[in-house]
Amino acid sequence: MPPPLPTTAILLLAAVLLHFPPPSTATNQYSNADKNCTNKWIFIRQLPPRFNTDLLSNCSVYPLFDDFCPYVPNHGLGYKTHNKSQSWFRTDPFMLELIFHRRMLEYSCLTTTPNQANAFYVPYYGGMDSIKYLYGPEVNNSFQHGKDLYNYLSQKNSPAIWNKNLGHDHFMVLSRSAWDLNQPLGNDPLLFGTSFLELPEFYNVTALTLEARAYPWQERALPYPTSFHPPSLSFLKSWINRVKKSKRSTLMLFAGGGRISANPNIRKSIRLECENATQMSADGTGYSNLCEFVDCSNGVCEHDPLKFTKPMLQATFCLQPPGDTPTRRSTFDSIIAGCIPVFFDELTAKKQYGWHFPVDQYHKFTVFIQKEEVVFKGIKILDVLKSIPGNEIRRMRERVIQMMPRVIYRRHGSSLGLKELKDAFDIAVEGTLKRIKSRLKEVAAQ
Ligand SMILES: *[C@@H]1O[C@H](CO)[C@@H](O)[C@H](O)[C@H]1NC(C)=O
Ligand SMILES: *[C@@H]1O[C@H](CO)[C@@H](O)[C@H](O)[C@H]1NC(C)=O
Ligand SMILES: *[C@@H]1O[C@H](CO)[C@@H](O)[C@H](O)[C@H]1NC(C)=O
Ligand SMILES: *[C@@H]1O[C@H](CO)[C@@H](O)[C@H](O)[C@H]1NC(C)=O
Ligand SMILES: *[C@@H]1O[C@H](CO)[C@@H](O)[C@H](O)[C@H]1NC(C)=O
Ligand SMILES: *[C@@H]1O[C@H](CO)[C@@H](O)[C@H](O)[C@H]1NC(C)=O
Repeated sequence: MPPPLPTTAILLLAAVLLHFPPPSTATNQYSNADKNCTNKWIFIRQLPPRFNTDLLSNCSVYPLFDDFCPYVPNHGLGYKTHNKSQSWFRTDPFMLELIFHRRMLEYSCLTTTPNQANAFYVPYYGGMDSIKYLYGPEVNNSFQHGKDLYNYLSQKNSPAIWNKNLGHDHFMVLSRSAWDLNQPLGNDPLLFGTSFLELPEFYNVTALTLEARAYPWQERALPYPTSFHPPSLSFLKSWINRVKKSKRSTLMLFAGGGRISANPNIRKSIRLECENATQMSADGTGYSNLCEFVDCSNGVCEHDPLKFTKPMLQATFCLQPPGDTPTRRSTFDSIIAGCIPVFFDELTAKKQYGWHFPVDQYHKFTVFIQKEEVVFKGIKILDVLKSIPGNEIRRMRERVIQMMPRVIYRRHGSSLGLKELKDAFDIAVEGTLKRIKSRLKEVAAQ
């Protein structure tokens, strides 16, 4: 593990972040000739540093929350896994607010003219700001989370920008689960969670989270950032070649916590079936292992992508059971490794990533087994997976690999995003612009 940065380094970093170089047309990846910004103009709201970069300097002050200083470098990608690594970082998903901000600064249709803008990006690190309410000194004031920002946006700083569409054209990234930020306002503030997403003040704003609730129209989940951030198309292509060539000697793999609960649940069923399968003969299946369990207890995998990527490269199917919450970063890790995801709950992906994975494509690159069928009706995952013919598996893996660019956050300053290869950021921005456009239409029609 790299040593945590001393506070001075953090402050320096914050200062550097604060003075991001403005995206200049000279270094822009798109030539002006093929750039058509109709309906795509985005204006970045200016915020005082207490709403973003100042929060980084407090990365080690919350005793009940992990010190996140080591994950801040490289604009939120974290340290490289090795000195020579170009594409692999020790990325923490909670840093998506930084990663997204940095990418926004090189977005090709930025405008500084509010009247030209189709959408307004609020570079607020709201998930990071929630830590002081969730684990810090503001725990008794969690219903206040967001009020200061609202006052700033709607009153202090160019109120005309907010008032034009009362927030309907604003969006922000909150790199936490929406469940952490939706405590009803009347509740005891000591219950876990802030009320940010329950504030009427922000009802109109599009919120991009790591896990969205199904019903509020303004939420949308983005893929968790993985550790893979290729700096160019050639790095991506050579990785894809490696994924394609990789020999898959394990039928199914589960990477996750080691604890087995007393009560029946899907994780328990998977663990038991996997333990059993390691004692069964794999003869005649074409695999040398039927199941592999990668023990990620105590967070050992979180910032060490090698631990699970290598085994995932050698597995055909990667099991993605829901845990404390239905979504998992591992879904995206497995796609990067060309390992076909197996879902047990619609909330894990199908009801989350409508922009990144077209809903009608799931059956082509994932397997779905209802968790109750496994836990209560004795369906064996192994039997389901063994029954899928080899040519079908090859087709699915081909589709998984086609999805890969859509879940990658390519490294900032890179040249990867050449139109036909949209990454997770590009797709999120495109979806947000469309949603805001239709929202404005609805409001105007009211
Ligand atoms: C730019 O795109 C818009 C719609 O997205 C289209 O109506 C317009 O004709 C395009 N302009 C040019 C110059 O291609
Ligand atoms: C950082 O932490 C200190 C001490 O808890 C607090 O006074 C300050 O407001 C925090 N800064 C931000 C930007 O939250
Ligand atoms: C990585 O590079 C830094 C600075 O160039 C050097 O100090 C460090 O020893 C290197 N680490 C490894 C593991 O090679
Ligand atoms: C929050 O309030 C409870 C009682 O209502 C009190 O015991 C506790 O010390 C307060 N916590 C903080 C951090 O102020
Ligand atoms: C949100 O939009 C509605 C109209 O659609 C408006 O009545 C309401 O005041 C707006 N909320 C805020 C906080 O601006
Ligand atoms: C373990 O394997 C045996 C025989 O191969 C089978 O009868 C049993 O149902 C399996 N148990 C689980 C949990 O898969």
